[in-house]
Amino acid sequence: MLQPNTVSNHDRKKLAPASSASQLHFVRRRARRARAAVRRQIIRRLPESLSLLRERVQDENPRVRLEAVVAASYVPKAEAVEVVAAAVDRPRDPFLDYAMRQSARALQPRWATAFAANQLKLGSAAQTDYLKKLLGTPPKQASPGEMIYEMACLPCHQPEGKGLPGVYPPLAGSEWVRGDAARLIKIVLHGLQGPIAVGGQNFGGPGAVPMPAMGGLTDEQIADVLTFVRGTFGPNGAPVKAAEVQAARSAAGPRETPWTELELSLRLTQ
Ligand code: HEC
Repeated sequence: MLQPNTVSNHDRKKLAPASSASQLHFVRRRARRARAAVRRQIIRRLPESLSLLRERVQDENPRVRLEAVVAASYVPKAEAVEVVAAAVDRPRDPFLDYAMRQSARALQPRWATAFAANQLKLGSAAQTDYLKKLLGTPPKQASPGEMIYEMACLPCHQPEGKGLPGVYPPLAGSEWVRGDAARLIKIVLHGLQGPIAVGGQNFGGPGAVPMPAMGGLTDEQIADVLTFVRGTFGPNGAPVKAAEVQAARSAAGPRETPWTELELSLRLTQ
């Protein structure tokens, strides 16, 4: 038999939003385990998995709903998108929105025809609209900068650059992002050691892990990712050029330590 729900009430309390780095680590580990458990169940019990996911996508806990949406993308059937669509009618946050888009897109070749033929069982007009809108907007071709963002920055700065309160600062709306490009280039090349303030919130206090150096990326890649970040999360669409990155790289020399805010502001006025 399938376990009715591997996430107990006790676990649910622990899955509440993280407020510190260690809690966050704990939450991540739990989420990883829950995800692995769901995947194992799906593979073992493919015929039953959809009904399990249909239940879970209605769960009180947003993280369980998110896991169900992600897991649905592993079920190779048109109906799997019904699980994704069911999440439309419950409260959503940027993480769930992102997972829904990703899963529905991944499943699209399986459900598009069934949807057009009215063969899917959707719970509300809002769900139908959600899928209709998704079909109507062709997946945008990810720019090179966006792909680098997803690999190199998203794990910390999160989808849509929203950051994680108290742990990773947001890029969306950040005064750093709309500020001087040379400073951003330096941050990506060599990292940044807090404390810093972003949008009136403090980050990088004692014991926090600093932003790591990413100088292993090429000049072109850094230019692309910063062009994407500035164009998407800040109102400053001016592209960053590879030549600017190259100049900053050679000016800094073989630097091993991350920048601090003080250092960056001193250099700016030179
Ligand atoms: C391992 C986590 C991690 C990764 C990966 C990461 N950052 Fe950061 N980033 C941080 C932290 C942490 C800070 C704040 C410094 C501190 O707390 O010491 C920061 C600060 C920043 C800032 C200045 C503050 C702000 O929010 O505007 C920018 C800009 C930035 N990062 C851009 C990037 C870009 C671009 C990438 C990808 C190329 C990236 N970061 C990858 C953790 C990360």
